[in-house]
Amino acid sequence: MKDIDLRGKKVALIGGSGFIGHNLALKLVSLGATVDVIDSLQVNNLGAFSNVHGDPNKSLYLHVINTRLDLLRKAQIPLHVVDARDYQVLSRCLSDIKPDTIVQLAAIAHANRANKDPYSTFDHSFRTLENALDCARGQDKHFIYFSSSMVYGNFEGDAVTEDRRCEPMGIYGALKYGGEKLVIAYNQVFGLSYTIVRPSALYGERCVSRRVGQAFIENALRGINLSVNGDGTDALDFTYIDDLVQGLVLAIARKEARNEIFNLTYGGARTLNQMAEIIREQFPGIEVKYQPRDALMPERGTLSIEKAKSLLGYAPANPLEKGFVKYIGWYKELAKENPEFFKPQPVHA
Ligand SMILES: NC(=O)c1ccc[n+]([C@@H]2O[C@H](COP(=O)([O-])OP(=O)(O)OC[C@H]3O[C@@H](n4cnc5c(N)ncnc54)[C@H](O)[C@@H]3O)[C@@H](O)[C@H]2O)c1
Repeated sequence: MKDIDLRGKKVALIGGSGFIGHNLALKLVSLGATVDVIDSLQVNNLGAFSNVHGDPNKSLYLHVINTRLDLLRKAQIPLHVVDARDYQVLSRCLSDIKPDTIVQLAAIAHANRANKDPYSTFDHSFRTLENALDCARGQDKHFIYFSSSMVYGNFEGDAVTEDRRCEPMGIYGALKYGGEKLVIAYNQVFGLSYTIVRPSALYGERCVSRRVGQAFIENALRGINLSVNGDGTDALDFTYIDDLVQGLVLAIARKEARNEIFNLTYGGARTLNQMAEIIREQFPGIEVKYQPRDALMPERGTLSIEKAKSLLGYAPANPLEKGFVKYIGWYKELAKENPEFFKPQPVHA
């Protein structure tokens, strides 16, 4: 990415103080872009964790989110506290910012949570998307939509390519797929140029979503055994945040990304047992327990990243054996500085 210079680019990130958004914002600014973050801070963020009671991770996650906000502040990235479900407020905010690129990240970004609460998921994921598209239409903007590998449903055969028929399972995947269709419709009707990205199973610094890898590390730091859904042979295309951010920077910078769909993952699946093995190497004595598999979770695997490699020059550099070890190192440092967050207590994966 050494040759990429984003000076002159003006990017608005809707849902930009979340896990992916703040990491992306920091990278874009380091490459010369002007970035504005729009976020309600209410979903999987400050408001959500301030109002929970009895969550053993509450103080840890509030600390992590405040660290994100400090980093944004230090990088002088403006934060607009706006609920993107409100069309009028979002519209005013975007007309003040005047971005040339809008990245739509806002969502309930978790399949299990989406299945438990379809009403809010529709609101935060689909209503916000339609509002953002409507604010962007008719102008010369580039719209980047965060879809997901969950649009494919069960993976079959070799690495899944972008042109594979989509058969999503459950609320999250269905709304992501519907979102893709809506984005394409805005292109057809209003000429809005877009890029759709399909990431998978991200992990990395300052996430509070407690997906499997994060739950493993937090449990191990507290001396609690790991809990795996299924027999551990489920394979996912685990992707380190820095690799995804690299792909997004390329999608913003390169004209070849316009009106295309890209898988943006590491490009090689690993099983849950392989991930657990890395934990056991880093935390000797930790054991793995197996629980029944969630029937609504599709059987996944590797996504093909050939299209992103050839059109954008995407080159992910962090297989799980490397990226996950870096992530564990970051958590160990955090635990050294703040041992109170990892006092042994009953936490379920
Ligand atoms: N993390 C992953 O593994 C992964 C994989 C595939 C796709 N995605 C997609 O990437 C996007 C970002 O994911 P993330 O992991 O950063 O999630 P996240 O939960 O950390 O961030 C989402 C952000 O959106 C904000 N938001 C939600 N509703 C909003 C609203 N109504 N108005 C304003 N802001 C609102 C939240 O406050 C939060 O800061 C999501 O669309 C998610 O579905 C994530």
